[in-house]
Amino acid sequence: MNSTASPSPQRFLTGITTTGTPHLGNFVGSIRPSVAASRLPGVQSFYFLADYHALIKCDDPARIQRSTLEIAASWLAAGLDPERVMFYRQSDIPEIPELTWLLACVTGKGVLNRAHAYKASVDKNEAAGNDPDADVTAGLFMYPVLMGADILMFKAHKVPVGRDQIQHIEMARDMAQHFNHLYGEHLVPPEAQIEESVALLPGLDGRKMSKSYDNTIPLFTPREQLRKLIAGIVTDSRAPGEAKDTEGSALFQIYQAFASEPETAGLRQAYADGIGWGDAKQMLFERIDQEVAPMREQYQALIGHPQKIEALLQAGAEKARAVATPFMGELRRAVGLRNLGTAAPAAARGKAAKAASPAFKQYREKDGRFYFKLLDAEAQLLLQSQGFDSPRDAALAIGQLQKEGLAALAGLNDKLEKAVGITDSQLDSALKFFAPEES
Ligand code: TRP
Repeated sequence: MNSTASPSPQRFLTGITTTGTPHLGNFVGSIRPSVAASRLPGVQSFYFLADYHALIKCDDPARIQRSTLEIAASWLAAGLDPERVMFYRQSDIPEIPELTWLLACVTGKGVLNRAHAYKASVDKNEAAGNDPDADVTAGLFMYPVLMGADILMFKAHKVPVGRDQIQHIEMARDMAQHFNHLYGEHLVPPEAQIEESVALLPGLDGRKMSKSYDNTIPLFTPREQLRKLIAGIVTDSRAPGEAKDTEGSALFQIYQAFASEPETAGLRQAYADGIGWGDAKQMLFERIDQEVAPMREQYQALIGHPQKIEALLQAGAEKARAVATPFMGELRRAVGLRNLGTAAPAAARGKAAKAASPAFKQYREKDGRFYFKLLDAEAQLLLQSQGFDSPRDAALAIGQLQKEGLAALAGLNDKLEKAVGITDSQLDSALKFFAPEES
């Protein structure tokens, strides 16, 4: 259809479950690379605090709230720019649980039975001779559906995840394809982007740094506390003057995750030359503190003003809902949750259904600008937009058309062109499809 158009900008989406306090492993493995990726040109990124997901693992309200604050402050302190990316809290977007239900109705229960997290619980119960579903909540079972809604709501193309999450992205793909097969092309099947190169940071005891091993170094622990924790990293018993192995040295690996190549080469040489563990730890401490100190200051300032973070999240929710609310309206109507007063589009299922509803198509042209067109149920061109500076501007114009229908045309006059031979009444009936239900 968009034969002349290059694809719309790649949309990346990352969810962060709000349990726990960010540690150096989260920083190296997730926060630092994600913030760097959010600055790349030509991508649109979505970062959100997955607090509904947190409820699956945590029933302590104070901890949920505290962790949401700490994680938001950490990402902001690490340089995430909420002007540049969509940064919001999952539970501020009621369309997400709403979409969760629509997706639940196109997801096989058997598929969810095979989801890793659920299956691990069942296997554990069976091994212990318990009822297979003992202590398993429906929330855990539905985890992949909620995650599918997170992703599909914003039509994300790429979801950067660790290997343990690939299955969830595959499931979201299946949900999108199944939904589209039944109701027409509405959802965009996402792809996992596997973070192969991302360093797994060892913790204090040399195993992977993880809250479940209780071996973490909190990212923004005060300087003196950081020094103490680093002093506690396991080493072997070699004395100063004896050459040390970099292989298998947690201290070396952590250093490497923060240092430049020449710095790392320097420590390697120092190991060979028999640096004492105390001195090596001092080097590591200074290197980490150098990187973390400016962010720590930011973090402290943010944590001290939770209402500032709250305001940022509210603004983020507003931006996100400017996309989610009209899209959810489109999906509700697609499945038949419609105003009874509007005429139903020709009933169709299966292949025919793909063309059974009008659709907005967004794309980017070679000129680097963002365009959209409106097609009717037979994929005939109705409206063509001029170029917008950002995908968001294009989305806002679409939102306005969806909400106000024909009435929006006057205001968007210089931005839109009706296709040749198209009448207002054709336009009107296509736009009615998107109109919010009267309440
Ligand atoms: N399940 C993810 C994790 O545990 C968090 C998450 C929730 C997520 N929703 C998402 C990640 C959507 C990517 C996309 O890490």
